[in-house]
Amino acid sequence: MKLRHSLAAIFTFLLLATFLTACKKEGGASGNEILIGEYASINGQNATFGRSSHNGTVLAIDEINTGGGILGKQIKLMSEDDNSKQEEATSAVQKLINHDKVVALLGEVASSRSRAGGQIAQQAKIPMISPASTNEEVTRIGDYIFRICFIDPFQGEALANFSMKTLHATRAAILLDTKQDYSIGLANSFRETMRKNGGAIVSEQAYSSGDKDFRAALTSIRASNPDVIFIPGYYSEVSLIVRQARELGITCPLVGGDGWDSSELTKGAEKEFNGTYFSNHFSTEDPDPAVQNFIKKYKAKYSNDPDAMSALGYDAANILADAIKRAGSTDAKKLRDAIAATKDFAGVTGSITINAERNALKPLTILQIVDGKYHFAQRISASGEPMTEFKPMSAPAPAK
Ligand code: PHE
Repeated sequence: MKLRHSLAAIFTFLLLATFLTACKKEGGASGNEILIGEYASINGQNATFGRSSHNGTVLAIDEINTGGGILGKQIKLMSEDDNSKQEEATSAVQKLINHDKVVALLGEVASSRSRAGGQIAQQAKIPMISPASTNEEVTRIGDYIFRICFIDPFQGEALANFSMKTLHATRAAILLDTKQDYSIGLANSFRETMRKNGGAIVSEQAYSSGDKDFRAALTSIRASNPDVIFIPGYYSEVSLIVRQARELGITCPLVGGDGWDSSELTKGAEKEFNGTYFSNHFSTEDPDPAVQNFIKKYKAKYSNDPDAMSALGYDAANILADAIKRAGSTDAKKLRDAIAATKDFAGVTGSITINAERNALKPLTILQIVDGKYHFAQRISASGEPMTEFKPMSAPAPAK
């Protein structure tokens, strides 16, 4: 009996394996499914980045499938967790392309990991859309690599202008993460803009992702007496940096970029974060009905507010689906051309047009952190002009 059972099991397994291999040969679009790959940091150092973008992506794909799918097929999302590690981003993309035979890729949030995965996608000529990677180099990898967010030369310039014109700072210090392409690129454009406009960088200090003690760097910065400190890092370290800065008696404004966005950033240090600002792709306070409707749907599904990565993950998945529809095919070249032709797509992070460099030109939002909440303070147009007046909330001074 037992033998017969296991023989039957082996036979069924072989049948299934043959069937699956036959399906796979068709390039991820066989039967009634279209396979899309996603690589994200679901665990590790920047887990909220991956979880948020994944949740936004899943929300979009569920809606598309409920609405009948695309090209008469359902979308199947194949997700790989890269554990916030660059090497794992590479192997995740290799697996998705070579083993799962996905027709396109969504990912990553962090620029260094998008650069790692993007190399593989470009070599295989499989279109990739990064929802959130802002480092200039990401889309320079090649003609199959796209993004739907603004880039760091724009973000860094906007933050330097904000520091100088709005916060009236002329002496800035920079504390950057030399392990992240994102941080290096953002520091470069901030520094250049400050200097170009007559400001000075009075101190520049570095750390590495994963560091926990920033007191030595902050002590040198304090001695340089800056008007503002620019911290182009990720929330995991910024969360500690801000606490330690306040501990050391630093009370000047602290400014950062989109890498600050996380529900984890201010946890347990809500008061210490008063007097800080960061730029982002999205604000939950945006009265636009499209944004508010997205927030409602997201909250209903996940019981928490979306952040920028949730919104960008949602937009990236919808843009990819729209391109598949317009291409009328999942052929890689046709799909690539359709993504490149994306024009005036109404996303929840704004209107998205892919330009000749495969980037998106979009406005940016400056958020002010008040008692742990992110308040809309100002919107800056894609050409760097203020679109709204700067409206800070009168916040209590940062706690030490
Ligand atoms: N822009 C960051 C990067 O390129 C990632 C990021 C996007 C983080 C949006 C938070 C919000 O690495």
